[in-house]
Amino acid sequence: MSKKSERTPVLVADDDPDIRLALEMLLQYEGFEVWTAKDGEEAWRRIEAERGAGRAPALVLTDLKMPKLDGLELLERIVALEDGPPVILISGHGDVATAVEAMQKGAANFLEKPIDDKRVLVTLRTTLREGELEVENQELRKRLTGRYELIGESEPMLKLASQLEQAATADAAVLITGENGSGKEVIARNLHYKSTRAAGPFVTVNCAAIPNELIESELFGHEKGSFTGAFERRTGHFEAADGGTLFLDEIGDMPLAAQAKVLRALESLEITRVGDSKTIPVDIRVIAATNADLATAVEEKSFRLDLFYRLNVVPLRVPPLRERKGDIPLLVGHFLEALTERAGRTPPPVNAEAMEFLTTLDWPGNVRQLRNLLEGAAVFATGDAIGKADFEEVLAGGPGLAKVPTGPELEGEDPFAAPTFEEFKNQSERLFFKRRLEANGGNVKRTAEELGMQRSHLYKKLDRYQLR
Ligand SMILES: Nc1ncnc2c1ncn2[C@@H]1O[C@H](COP(=O)(O)OP(=O)(O)OP(=O)(O)O)[C@@H](O)[C@H]1O
Ligand SMILES: [Mg+2]
Repeated sequence: MSKKSERTPVLVADDDPDIRLALEMLLQYEGFEVWTAKDGEEAWRRIEAERGAGRAPALVLTDLKMPKLDGLELLERIVALEDGPPVILISGHGDVATAVEAMQKGAANFLEKPIDDKRVLVTLRTTLREGELEVENQELRKRLTGRYELIGESEPMLKLASQLEQAATADAAVLITGENGSGKEVIARNLHYKSTRAAGPFVTVNCAAIPNELIESELFGHEKGSFTGAFERRTGHFEAADGGTLFLDEIGDMPLAAQAKVLRALESLEITRVGDSKTIPVDIRVIAATNADLATAVEEKSFRLDLFYRLNVVPLRVPPLRERKGDIPLLVGHFLEALTERAGRTPPPVNAEAMEFLTTLDWPGNVRQLRNLLEGAAVFATGDAIGKADFEEVLAGGPGLAKVPTGPELEGEDPFAAPTFEEFKNQSERLFFKRRLEANGGNVKRTAEELGMQRSHLYKKLDRYQLR
């Protein structure tokens, strides 16, 4: 056997020739065989070609934003392979949302730009070792569940946890209700990872964030050319969730027309792509969540009764934080730990008086609000502990209870000091949405109504300014 074939092949995909070359040199020097591709499509072709020859890269390192086929799409294709190699995504600096999405879609790891040689090697080795030990799947799941760990030992939470345990193993539909930020998504993910479908995909659909006219194509997919703008064939969320769990978030916001189609798909476990006539079987479990009162929506005829029954097989109610204030210290500990991991430095602990103060608040934005307040106070805290004054300082900053000190105010900047008109517009827009959202206790639906905006449009803005 030649020396070359003993080297472990790694595929590097990046449209930036400089990064490609830098990674190639680094990895070659470290003894890997390096295959390069200048976009996702070329990477995918290489994988297919090599598979034809019975070879496969031990690992794929791919940029996120690339022409033709981007990193996430490439990831999706690789994950769909039986025995596909682990994928490390390289994302732009600060693009946490995409990184999380990548992890959810099955990326083994992600790296942030600018690329640091040592981090690349460490991440690469860790990922490869995990693969070798064949614990990669379990590791990934553990990491995911770690991020969505359900914290709480108050009586209502213990009750919820035991209901969750029971519901997880049944394959029945679950309807999760609860206020904003109370932890509905956390519950949904826990259900998935405790179910027999844990190895399958968990696909989230935010029903409120999809424009009405696109919902059918998003859910069921479409054929190329089936409507203006449908340039490519597209797989819908139902198909993507095959073998796993489909999480229909904000189900109360689903338009009536779509409700009928969703019901049909759930009853028949078959879907039809827009612009196609053949039916495709899908094996999914559905979990839905809402902060709206669906029973009232049914009475008001904005939600179909039959769909309500279909989704509400196992109802789970997530109690608001004010009903379980005893969990606050545990949650605080949990979030400080998470902050440590993310920021790489340990934030100071919360002193007793400050902890007591937290239990006096009402928490209309629930656990999310607690997290935001805590992260804000951790930024302000100067002493060796986070004190009541630090919380009050964050609270004093705006009409909402928990003001998130990110963006312009954090640096003490105001939009008028922006160096360019473009930045002025961005900063003021961000501030505008932030304030309005806070004034509505984080309720997106209400904010959209107040502003006379489509919810999907508002969601885009919130994502853009990382206000969710
Ligand atoms: N019991 C919990 N343990 C740990 N973290 C929690 C818990 N509940 C909520 N969180 C955290 O609070 C935040 C909000 O949770 P989540 O997104 O699940 O709420 P939600 O009910 O889906 O909110 P929304 O109504 O806005 O969609 C997340 O950061 C989540 O990790
Ligand atoms: Mg949610």
